[in-house]
Amino acid sequence: MSTPSISAKVLGLGTYLPERVLTNAELQARPELDTSDEWIVRRTGIRERRLAADDQATSDLSTLAAEACLADTGVSPDAIDLIIVATVTPDMLFPATACLVQRNLAARRAAGYDLLLGCTGFVSALATAAQFITSGSFEHVLVIGADTLSRITDWTDRSTCVLFGDGAGAVLLGPGEPGEGLLSFVMSNNGEASGLLSMPAGGSRLRITPEVAAAHLDCIRMEGKELFRLAVEGIPTAAEDAMRAAGLGPDDIDMMIMHQANIRIIEAAAERFGFPPEKVAVTIDRHGNTSAASMPLALDELRAQGRLSAGDRVLLVGFGAGFALAAAVVRW
Ligand code: UT7
Repeated sequence: MSTPSISAKVLGLGTYLPERVLTNAELQARPELDTSDEWIVRRTGIRERRLAADDQATSDLSTLAAEACLADTGVSPDAIDLIIVATVTPDMLFPATACLVQRNLAARRAAGYDLLLGCTGFVSALATAAQFITSGSFEHVLVIGADTLSRITDWTDRSTCVLFGDGAGAVLLGPGEPGEGLLSFVMSNNGEASGLLSMPAGGSRLRITPEVAAAHLDCIRMEGKELFRLAVEGIPTAAEDAMRAAGLGPDDIDMMIMHQANIRIIEAAAERFGFPPEKVAVTIDRHGNTSAASMPLALDELRAQGRLSAGDRVLLVGFGAGFALAAAVVRW
């Protein structure tokens, strides 16, 4: 990556988690699932997750996170040039969720669109947003990672329904000095592995008919074991590439934030780089897998805990459906 004279700096951050907490005990209490708190904690690290209220959709979660972010920065909605919503659970296929958020925020000048890349979406949206800032095209770009996965979860499938949760996080990017903000990024897809994680129906390939819905093809389908292998193999390479592109090594990193899919994936990657637990974000125990929201939610939690300070170098790694990988180094 060349070094532009303007950098894309994180000006602020805000998040939203729905109030309803679904515990493992509640899932265990459903005999048809034949699952247990013990299995879920041991295999995933998840203890509970949040569920959106019946009247909340992804644009609502996104708007609340965005409002918190704007309050954090003091920037007015009128100053936003572009809104990118990373999600796989848009309110509907169109209009883009970003248009609904733009309306809700009364961000009159803002353009916007959705970026559908699943759990990798937040990092890819950051990299995308940064291009507009460093080129001088836009001054304020709002990047939102938000998902309401509970709406596309097959609640009869124990291999997936114990994993997911709902939430949203937003960051505002704006111009900074060279060396601030996004220092590097790498992105890759392995489309050969697309079938490992998908929602088969609801797009142009397969219409949702009563038969399709009865077969739960309008829900998340996942081959977890193979994805797990791809993640454990791919994360270190993506992370190393991002650190190298920033001219840094593991010792220079203050905090690593991975997409929160499984505690065993997080621990394997942390061990690979020799990162002690205090350098690694873990929210999966309380949030489950919130897809595009997991990393901004983790950023906000770290900041609230006093574990993220100005100047810290943060390594972000997203992975998921695609099979897509994206890593970035951000100077906070
Ligand atoms: O966010 C996007 C990226 N996502 C990922 O990267 C997910 C990566 N994959 C994973 O995190 C893990 O593969 C899972 C958590 C999804 C599954 O863990 P696993 O250790 O790979 O389990 P498995 O699928 O191999 O299943 C092991 C056993 C099976 O039983 P048998 O065949 O050994 O008798 C499953 O039927 O565990 C059974 N099982 C369950 N048992 C109790 C699967 N789900 C459950 C459950 N409760 N909820």
